Amino acid sequence: MKREDFLIYEDPNLIYLDSGATTLKPKVLADAISEYYNHYSANAHRGDYDISLKVDTLFEKTRYLVSNFIHANTNEVAFTNNATDSLSKIVWGFFEDYLNPGEEVLITKSEHASNVLPWFELAKRKGIVVRYIPLDSDLKVTMENVRKTVTQKTKVISLAQITNVVGDVRPIKEITSFAHQNGILVVVDGAQSVPHMPVDVKELDIDFLAFSAHKMCGPTGLGVLYGKEEYLRQFRPLIVGGGMNASFEFDGTVIYNEIPHFLEAGTPNIAGVIGFGKVVEYLEEIGMDRIQAYEKELRDYAIRRLKEVPKIILYNEKSESGIITFNIQDVFSQDLAIYLNKYHICVRAGNHCAKILKEDLGIKNTCRVSLYFYNTKEEIDALVRALKNPHLMEEII
Ligand code: ALA
Repeated sequence: MKREDFLIYEDPNLIYLDSGATTLKPKVLADAISEYYNHYSANAHRGDYDISLKVDTLFEKTRYLVSNFIHANTNEVAFTNNATDSLSKIVWGFFEDYLNPGEEVLITKSEHASNVLPWFELAKRKGIVVRYIPLDSDLKVTMENVRKTVTQKTKVISLAQITNVVGDVRPIKEITSFAHQNGILVVVDGAQSVPHMPVDVKELDIDFLAFSAHKMCGPTGLGVLYGKEEYLRQFRPLIVGGGMNASFEFDGTVIYNEIPHFLEAGTPNIAGVIGFGKVVEYLEEIGMDRIQAYEKELRDYAIRRLKEVPKIILYNEKSESGIITFNIQDVFSQDLAIYLNKYHICVRAGNHCAKILKEDLGIKNTCRVSLYFYNTKEEIDALVRALKNPHLMEEII
């Protein structure tokens, strides 16, 4: 679907199956970025001349488009550097003050480092307690396990909507509904979900959401922090400087700007934000429902075909997203990725930054295929052909 929009496919051999790491970029993105740098490269929110007003208009247009994309209000969407930055800001800007020693945050063992390490740090510095919602035998989160793990002390549940190794889609609406009945806030890492499915923060009643532009055809170095207005208003000034204050005096009196600008100190990634606006329009044009349905079809096809491969171990056959994690028996995952590269097939190998999943998964390192709307069944056939190669072992050694 839409492969002609990606100039990288001028290389007819490329088989890119690593969109969970970062997606390919459509021409509309590079065109918008180059247009900004070549023709109206003024700063944002600081000038009174035509090109700076154009920057302001396009910058805020992206905020409007992103807000619509996730069904948020515009003042609930702040730009950050990436999902990691958003999650850390949520923890340090809000939860460090909100939580008291002894109170609990629940995560899972399949979370990405960005949704584990800030909580570990908060546990060290503030004495909060990190506990894990157990995964079931398919490495999924069930409501039964959520209910069993919550205690009187639980104040936050922080989890990915889709995890980057297991690719399971979590029941966020049921989780927020149960959590809110029990006075618990819910933080959602949307890095692997927002690019692949419709996400409506209002309908899901999510308190905080983090995601990255580069995993949805957008630029690197740009992320989104969504928070319900009432919570964003309670953020402490985390990064302070220009753009986030209205005034300050010699005696230390400071008046800060309103949200979301309060959360965006310093000159932002203007070119990236403007380019991201074009990308959001581009994805809306394709349709997130269509993207999700197409990926599901590709995934089902891939699982069916991969099962033909001798000695394959599939770790997440029952997941619903375009993330497929596997190994070939007796082959080190990185060796397999290097072997596949000989056939121009790009997959990711390793622990994928989910370093506490190893016990539940039964192994530390895996190969991961992660699909997007530009992938095809022919590419999956090529992967399966390479994996079925009777000389695979010799070629690896
Ligand atoms: N979190 C990214 C991945 O899963 C980098 O590959």
